[in-house]
Amino acid sequence: MGWWLFPILGYFIGSIPFSYLIPKWLKGIDVRKVGSGNVGATNAIRTTGPVVGGICLLLDALKGFFPVFIATTFSGDPKLVSLTAIATVLGHDFPIFMKFKGGKGVASTLGIIFCLSWPTGIVFTLTWLVIVMLTKYASLGSLVALYISALLGYLFKGYDTGMLILILAVLSTLRHSENIQRLLNGTERKVNLFKR
Ligand code: G3P
Repeated sequence: MGWWLFPILGYFIGSIPFSYLIPKWLKGIDVRKVGSGNVGATNAIRTTGPVVGGICLLLDALKGFFPVFIATTFSGDPKLVSLTAIATVLGHDFPIFMKFKGGKGVASTLGIIFCLSWPTGIVFTLTWLVIVMLTKYASLGSLVALYISALLGYLFKGYDTGMLILILAVLSTLRHSENIQRLLNGTERKVNLFKR
C-alpha cells in the first residue's frame, strides 16, 4: 500500500461533516446559520443541546482517532502518522464535501490526542470541561487545552508527539482568530454545556 494512502484516507474521513449532518438529520437545524455558524461540536451543543451536540463531539473525535490509529498500526512511522493526523484535521477544517468550509479542528484533534497518548486526552478533556464550565467560553477552553496537551504529549511520549500536537494546536489557533478577537473584545459567544 502506498504511504500516501494514509493521509488521503485521513483527509476524506476528516471531511465527513458530522457536526453539520447530525443536527440537520436529528433536529433539522443547519449549524452554519445559527449560533457562531461554525461547523463544529461546540456550535452543535450550543444550538441543538448536549445530546445531539455530544453525538457530534463523539463522531468528530472518532474521525480524528481512526485514521491515525490505522497509520500507527500499519506503519508506525512518526512522519507518516503526523502527516495523516494533519491531513485529517485539514479535512475537518476544509472539507471537500462542504465546499471547503469546515470547523476549527478541536474535536478531531482531541480524537488524535487520545490515539497518541490517552492520558493526555483525559487531561485535555478535563481542562476543557473545567474552563468551559467556569467561563462558558469554549474557544478559551479549546486553546488552553490544546497547548497543555502539546506539552504533556512531549513529556509523556516524546518530541514527535509533542511537536505534532503543537502543530495541530497552531493550526486550530489560526482557525480561532475571530474567537480570539472576540475574547479580547469581551464579545465572545458563550456555551452552556448542559442546556440549549
Ligand atoms: O471547538 C470550537 C470552539 O473552540 C469554538 O467554537 O462555535 O464558539 O466558535 P465556537
